[in-house]
Amino acid sequence: PVDEMEARVRVIKQALGDQLVILGHHYQKDEVFQFADFTGDSLKLAQLAAQQHQASYIVFCGVHFMAETADILTSENQTVILPDLKAGCSMADMADDEQVEECWELLTGLFGETVVPMTYVNSTAAIKAFCGRNGGLTCTSSNAKNMFQWAFSHKERILFLPDEHLGRNTAASLGIPLEEMAVYNPLTRELEDVQTKLDQIKVILWKGFCSVHQHFKLEHVQRVRQRDPQIKVLVHPECNYDVVCAADDSGSTEYIIRQVQNAPPGSKWAIGTEVNLVQRLAKTHPEQTIRLLNDMICPCLTMNRIDLPHLLWALESIYQGDNVNPIRVETDVAREARIALERMLQNS
Ligand code: 13P
Ligand code: SF4
Repeated sequence: PVDEMEARVRVIKQALGDQLVILGHHYQKDEVFQFADFTGDSLKLAQLAAQQHQASYIVFCGVHFMAETADILTSENQTVILPDLKAGCSMADMADDEQVEECWELLTGLFGETVVPMTYVNSTAAIKAFCGRNGGLTCTSSNAKNMFQWAFSHKERILFLPDEHLGRNTAASLGIPLEEMAVYNPLTRELEDVQTKLDQIKVILWKGFCSVHQHFKLEHVQRVRQRDPQIKVLVHPECNYDVVCAADDSGSTEYIIRQVQNAPPGSKWAIGTEVNLVQRLAKTHPEQTIRLLNDMICPCLTMNRIDLPHLLWALESIYQGDNVNPIRVETDVAREARIALERMLQNS
């Protein structure tokens, strides 16, 4: 029964005290989120992980790339645990290191040494390591604009991976015309959508996407506005460019939360992001009207794999000294990935 599982989680948390920290991403289910010692978006959780010096165990309620990042940023005597190893990210799986090396070879042939590789943190540790050893860095949706500016202060062009949409939206917000962006397709190994002379291209976007945010479409924005002209549309920048342009505002998970928290009673929102977060915002702000941008429920299926039974199972194992599901990034990969992550953290 749920109440017995919840009680057991509380008992183990109390018994382990400072040895244990539970981190929870905002897209987690309430049944898990309620037990997080710290909550946040990808950037905040990466920063928090790096600060947990006293904890021997960090249970990461999020997805695999986030737990890898936590492992890279914590010390060797700390163990990061992902309660379900199947909690991956379909976007992170859209770029593997061999594909990225192939792309880099093509780009080096076309553009010489003028490209900075930048990966969204929603990527494997191997991709972060690739960026670290090639003068590049990571970014999150909270700091992508600053990181683009950092990259452009070093080189003329950016290879942005694996999310085509965050890359395009960020570049456009810096005033880069769409014609100066091209798309790299890892399946055909070619540049697509080339609308200008090669030497005019400023941003090369990896053809990857988020399986949750791709469901928000322009017609959803139009439909909610027809139903209620006063409603404000707020979306995550993993949504496609048309949707972001049509929305009233866009930003990372933490940004979305802040906008709602700072809005006056009676505000009305249609929000284009993961459903657990939208439903939690609606519950915690009954003085506002908050709905999902489309009528389809779009959960992140892999995030949702972390449920109360998995959390309890992971905690029981720590309590008994078994350590199920530790996430350990190989030392050499971690060293190079840390370079890319630290470039981001120092400039955030
Ligand atoms: P942020 O947490 O950076 O907003 O990213 C959202 C997301 O898709 C996490 O996987
Ligand atoms: Fe990956 Fe999208 Fe899920 Fe985030 S919401 S973990 S980007 S699939």
